[in-house]
Amino acid sequence: MRMYDLIMKKRNGGALSKEEIYFMIREYTNGAIPDYQMSAMMMAIYFRGMDEEETLHLTMAMAESGDMLDLSQIKGVKVDKHSTGGVGDKTSLALTPMVAACGVKIAKMSGRGLGHTGGTIDKLESFPGFSTDISTRQFISNVNEVGIAIMGQTKELAPADKMLYALRDVTATVDNMSLIASSIMSKKLAAGADAIVLDVKTGSGAFMKKQEDAFALAKEMVSLGKNAGRKTLAVVSDMDQPLGNAIGNVLEVQEAIDTLRGKGPADFTELCMTLGSLMLMAGQVSVTEKEARAQLEQVIRNGSALDKLAEFVKAQGGEENAVYHPELLAKAVYEEPILAPEDGYVQKIICDEAGIASLILGGGRETKDSVIDLSVGIILNKKVGAHVNAGEELAVLYANDKEKLKTAKERLMNAYRIGKEKIEKNNVIIGVVK
Ligand code: URA
Repeated sequence: MRMYDLIMKKRNGGALSKEEIYFMIREYTNGAIPDYQMSAMMMAIYFRGMDEEETLHLTMAMAESGDMLDLSQIKGVKVDKHSTGGVGDKTSLALTPMVAACGVKIAKMSGRGLGHTGGTIDKLESFPGFSTDISTRQFISNVNEVGIAIMGQTKELAPADKMLYALRDVTATVDNMSLIASSIMSKKLAAGADAIVLDVKTGSGAFMKKQEDAFALAKEMVSLGKNAGRKTLAVVSDMDQPLGNAIGNVLEVQEAIDTLRGKGPADFTELCMTLGSLMLMAGQVSVTEKEARAQLEQVIRNGSALDKLAEFVKAQGGEENAVYHPELLAKAVYEEPILAPEDGYVQKIICDEAGIASLILGGGRETKDSVIDLSVGIILNKKVGAHVNAGEELAVLYANDKEKLKTAKERLMNAYRIGKEKIEKNNVIIGVVK
């Protein structure tokens, strides 16, 4: 088999066979196929697309390019959750203890933030001592004993995807439905959970700007998961404005803790309840959505979800006391509000701009090696649909550097659009794909 022939076949609109896809992924991973040939193949796929069968073979070939985690030593159904990412997305921090407190096991791999979107691992490291750098054995033991464990992605997990994603990033071939779906699902399948719940974001701050594209991606991933023998469900949710009120690591952790105390922002709480219900339905036998919601409300009311977070933080080396006293977490020195320039309604908060404002403060990474400042960020007091009077606080920035604060303040001000027209609040849940 020759890579040249496969590129030509795809360029001419043909479908690649299972053998051809496995050959291409195996030989690329072991270095026999050079980047320039794989780049040409990615561009051919970008323009010609892949059918359902090809996408499944690509997903499986990438999943099997490294270790497939064996979680059979964990008793019961193991559920994983994945979000396509966005600004202020601290969902895993509140959702996973809620679900684990209801008795469903969470075995999750997470990543760090890059650019203006955050990552769960950075957020969790707001708890002094917390580490996701744990062995697979420790991971399995924590899921069994605590009901929840989160580890960083190992080098051995879907290495073909790691190489291909880096290549796609520099060859303008990221935003193809089959390539995104196979990339995400290869990692999820290799991570070994029995059930996968996906949160596919749509709107100005998401990969998929249009709702119809988000639904198509959700359907494609659900079908890949099911064809690979895993129970898979997806929620399509709004990322046309930041999620919740907090952006920035410690601030997001504090908001997640508020939510576990029943005092979280309405949009964020609703997203956790919807995803949580699906996770319970995937992990428990014949529970209805109504019963699942009631269980989640109960663990918030009786404090066991908050206790579960403390137990999880402690099991991974973190300062559990901070779960009950979030005011102990790192604090920024400066606090500066931005004020509404006129009376009206918040028409829009440009997601990426708000995320970049937090990045400028030091809350995100410009490059993979940047060191982030956990304490800085933004609290949005007014979100889309809110009425404001001139001079009223729209948001507050938290900073440790006056120069950065000045630049971030301008950027955040530009993210807000205020107008006279009354406007409806966005619904955070746009749809569910089962
Ligand atoms: N996230 C991934 O892991 N892969 C993609 O291709 C896009 C987003």
